[in-house]
Amino acid sequence: MILTILSPNFCLRREYINNIEYFKPTLKDINDMQKLVKPYIEDGTILHRSNDEIATTIRSYTSVKIDNILCGFVALHIHSQELAEIRSLIVDKTNRNHGIGTTLVNMCLKEAKQYNVKKVLTLTYKEQFFLNLNFDIIQKETIPEHKIWADCIKCKHFPICNEIALIKKV
Ligand SMILES: CC(C)(COP(=O)(O)OP(=O)(O)OC[C@H]1O[C@@H](n2cnc3c(N)ncnc32)[C@H](O)[C@@H]1OP(=O)(O)O)[C@@H](O)C(=O)NCCC(=O)NCCS
Repeated sequence: MILTILSPNFCLRREYINNIEYFKPTLKDINDMQKLVKPYIEDGTILHRSNDEIATTIRSYTSVKIDNILCGFVALHIHSQELAEIRSLIVDKTNRNHGIGTTLVNMCLKEAKQYNVKKVLTLTYKEQFFLNLNFDIIQKETIPEHKIWADCIKCKHFPICNEIALIKKV
């Protein structure tokens, strides 16, 4: 299920990334996703999700591969008619700063619009990255959906959380 072989509206700085594919992952991709995200789970940047949890929510993910090797993914998790959340955004170190993360977030925003979600939230340490994408900072206490906090208890940093909450209307 290949969605894009090089997003036409996104200019990649590194000209030789010419075999890039954004796609909806399937269950066979879960092991590679877990390998990619492992270091960021260990340092607490990204929350651990079990294979079963990823399988249950596999349709929320968008992935990207270069030369057939998984190099990033993101999930758009719908909480309610009002709100969806961008989760587990990752691009491997060697392919950063070429617009792949931005493209993944833009694909989530497009998907949110297709589902008529009104706002997209993220909880992140990458505040500037999301500010560049026109997200606005909000106070965490004002996050409208209590369901989001159910995840916090699983976080390594709980209860001292330095993540920034940002939101964008779609
Ligand atoms: C956050 C993360 C996904 C970004 O991925 P990325 O592919 O490097 O993202 P982009 O290339 O789109 O953007 C990175 C920077 O390059 C810049 N950039 C991207 N494409 C560009 C282009 N074509 N020309 C000029 N600048 C560009 C962006 O403006 C951005 O600048 P910033 O550092 O000021 O935010 C990546 O750093 C990562 O995986 N980090 C570890 C996990 C993590 O923290 N995830 C976030 C959890 S919510």
